[in-house]
Amino acid sequence: MTDIVSLDLTSWRPEPAPEAQQTAIRTLEGGGVLVLAHLAFGLSKDELRFLSPAWSDARAKNISLDGDALKGARGAADDLAALRAMIGRFAACAGDLIKALFPRYGPYVARARTSFRPQPAVGRALSWRKDDARLHIDAFPSRPNHGERILRVFSNVNPLEDRVWRVGEAFPQMARTFLPQVRRPLPGMPALLALLRVTKGVRSDYDHLMLGLHDRAKANHAYQNGCEQRVVHFAPGTTWLCFSDQVMHAAVSGQHMLEQTIHLPVAALYEPESSPLAILEALCGRPLLPAH
Ligand SMILES: [Fe+2]
Repeated sequence: MTDIVSLDLTSWRPEPAPEAQQTAIRTLEGGGVLVLAHLAFGLSKDELRFLSPAWSDARAKNISLDGDALKGARGAADDLAALRAMIGRFAACAGDLIKALFPRYGPYVARARTSFRPQPAVGRALSWRKDDARLHIDAFPSRPNHGERILRVFSNVNPLEDRVWRVGEAFPQMARTFLPQVRRPLPGMPALLALLRVTKGVRSDYDHLMLGLHDRAKANHAYQNGCEQRVVHFAPGTTWLCFSDQVMHAAVSGQHMLEQTIHLPVAALYEPESSPLAILEALCGRPLLPAH
């Protein structure tokens, strides 16, 4: 079962005691969710107006900040500058937090991507595969990551409403359940998908398996309803972190969240053997990345 562990931090630049830091590392890399119930991301009075789906352009689900580029938003130039500043401030806070709690991850914070999600968490899914109200690990069809970790920092900036998730069983159990159902890719298919630019780079065996686990779990109603799981409420003003490529998670409800994604190489982990790559390679008995 996914661990939910709380730490009583109140600063985005904490100076954690060694035990607190160990707890943070063990929770995160062990596939748990680290909850910081007293670490709110504060909005100014002026910024409260951004808590509205009206700032999303019609096409994108989220508003994102990638470097200096604000994507998926609409509004007048000075409004968009203020929105960009708010998201940028969250990116800086989330980066500071990661560097303070997990110094080994520090060098990778610069490559982070940040999103603001003013839309309701559920109700927009076009297909079962894209339906994040079903328990899943994050794996992206068009972006093979060759084992890179997906670390996410979330903050509920809704002053009134909880963000609610379901979390499921631990990664190794889930992988044991679904690995036998994932078929091998057709020979030459990963290279063809890359050639046709369906994927950005060649999908490794690792990426193929992670996508397979994502799909097989989402497609299975009996599993979605019957597997070991619990509901977790993230109250207004709560920040939480997890490796979303490892934690089985599903959106239940909520609106208005900020989120920062940091991609980490497995080598940056404190315990690389706890990574999905190491777990899947052990279960499969073979390497899942191409030899260099
Ligand atoms: Fe997800």
